[in-house]
Amino acid sequence: MNNNGYLIHMESVSKDFRRGSETIHALREANLSVHPGEFIAVVGHSGSGKTTLMNIIGCLDRPTSGYVRIADHKIKDLPEKELTQIRKTTIGFVFQQFFLIPTLTVLQNVMLPGLFARQNVEKRARELLGLVGLKNRLSHLPDQLSGGEMQRVAIARSLINNPSILLADEPTGNLDSHNAGNIISMFEQFNRTGLTIVMVTHNPDIATRCSKIVHIEDGCLTA
Ligand SMILES: Nc1ncnc2c1ncn2[C@@H]1O[C@H](COP(=O)(O)OP(=O)(O)O)[C@@H](O)[C@H]1O
Ligand SMILES: [Mg+2]
Repeated sequence: MNNNGYLIHMESVSKDFRRGSETIHALREANLSVHPGEFIAVVGHSGSGKTTLMNIIGCLDRPTSGYVRIADHKIKDLPEKELTQIRKTTIGFVFQQFFLIPTLTVLQNVMLPGLFARQNVEKRARELLGLVGLKNRLSHLPDQLSGGEMQRVAIARSLINNPSILLADEPTGNLDSHNAGNIISMFEQFNRTGLTIVMVTHNPDIATRCSKIVHIEDGCLTA
């Protein structure tokens, strides 16, 4: 299969939204190629199209036009069921707002996305919570944790199905600089073991720690 060795490959991808009679060009003929093992920072002002880009890479949304390939999957025209499968097996998501389920414990939150897939999901969840430094918090509820700890739970959860790509949309946006630094160190640690990461950030210090910075302005990408 000729995939040029890229894990993520986008060519001339545009995304339009309609708002009343207005058309919003959220992405304009964007090109992006990501090799396995890269750690990409996506930087741009509010409203520039960063989340739209992440949603397309994450198979949460389809482009209006252009070519998208994730691993060996050409996204165009794939039925919703297959997109869901790609999301579950290939991609992990981390968001600014954590999105933990408040009535489930730390361990249960991490296990949840793996329950349908893996026999030994609890073992893997405990292992991941160890890696993010939370092995003493397994039975806590999310509201008993600090923001930094909640985001570490979300990171462990995002990795439960062993994805090859981690998409993080402003993962440190709700954290102070100390906790933000910890989260990025954790990403670096997982990146060193082969995880490919695409991360939106507003923080220039954080962006410079990545292997590549992609700038986005009014839907246009430049490396
Ligand atoms: N579902 C949607 N419907 C209409 N407009 C949208 C939608 N999603 C995003 N947009 C618009 O597309 C542009 C890019 O948005 P977004 O990708 O969320 O930017 P960012 O994440 O960089 O802040 C903005 O003008 C936003 O208002
Ligand atoms: Mg956004």
